[in-house]
Amino acid sequence: MNKLKAVVTGASSGIGRALSLEIVRSGGRVLGVARNEGALLSLKNDLGENFSYVAADLSKLSEIDRVVEGAKGFLGSVDVLVNNAGFGLYKSVLEHNDDELISMVTVNFIAPIALTRRMLPLMHEGSAVVNVVTAGIHLLMTKLPVYGATKIAFHYASRALAHELKQRRMRVILVYPGVVLTEFHQRAGGIAPSRGRVTAEDVAKSILKAIEKGKNVVYAPSYISFLRMLGPFLPELY
Ligand SMILES: NC(=O)c1ccc[n+]([C@@H]2O[C@H](COP(=O)([O-])OP(=O)(O)OC[C@H]3O[C@@H](n4cnc5c(N)ncnc54)[C@H](OP(=O)(O)O)[C@@H]3O)[C@@H](O)[C@H]2O)c1
Repeated sequence: MNKLKAVVTGASSGIGRALSLEIVRSGGRVLGVARNEGALLSLKNDLGENFSYVAADLSKLSEIDRVVEGAKGFLGSVDVLVNNAGFGLYKSVLEHNDDELISMVTVNFIAPIALTRRMLPLMHEGSAVVNVVTAGIHLLMTKLPVYGATKIAFHYASRALAHELKQRRMRVILVYPGVVLTEFHQRAGGIAPSRGRVTAEDVAKSILKAIEKGKNVVYAPSYISFLRMLGPFLPELY
């Protein structure tokens, strides 16, 4: 765990920010990625020389190469790539305009795969890719349907990627949070449901524990894993 070298997308707030803090405070080094340069700079001021960042918009795939260059320069090699950046919109399927559809599919599904592919040359046997999905994939999220669709695609591809990377002796850790108390829901134009809530720090700690203990699936809170079995029978829950 000591001196873990990690790339964390979505480091400017919520889960990504909390995870960056945990990793650096436990002796590691983090390259954070997000659009909000002010928030990244403020995190750098808190964390010092073991944190650096690349301000990049992951809805633009052309910006990914700068992230890889940043990782090469700051970290050299990468022990953990955390694909955490993501967003949703509280809108029905038909309310999404084309730009929103393209942007959400790109940030939540295409960019993490494109970033992983480009980052692999910097990774090694024992490295891990951490993909932050959502426990909501087990339900029909009628309030965030397109978001749910992008996360199901991400979940599916991540499971396949886990098989592919096993051949290189690398791990994929799939993370399924419940409702996390971050800016996510407000940004998405809605109100967070009251059930199954956890803090970003709780999720960050669960992810670090999984990296340490060799776990490949994380539900946060852990009891939310019941949705895996019962979700299909609770389609109207959310
Ligand atoms: N909160 C929940 O209830 C919940 C539940 C399950 C799963 N999740 C997942 O957890 C992950 C983190 O979300 P959070 O709850 O921590 O929400 P958050 O506080 O809104 O953080 C989202 C992060 O993603 C980054 N991001 C969004 N669009 C981006 C873009 N185009 N380019 C680069 N970075 C971008 C944001 O940075 P900038 O705005 O600075 O770019 C921010 O750092 C997401 O993948 C989300 O789907 C959240």
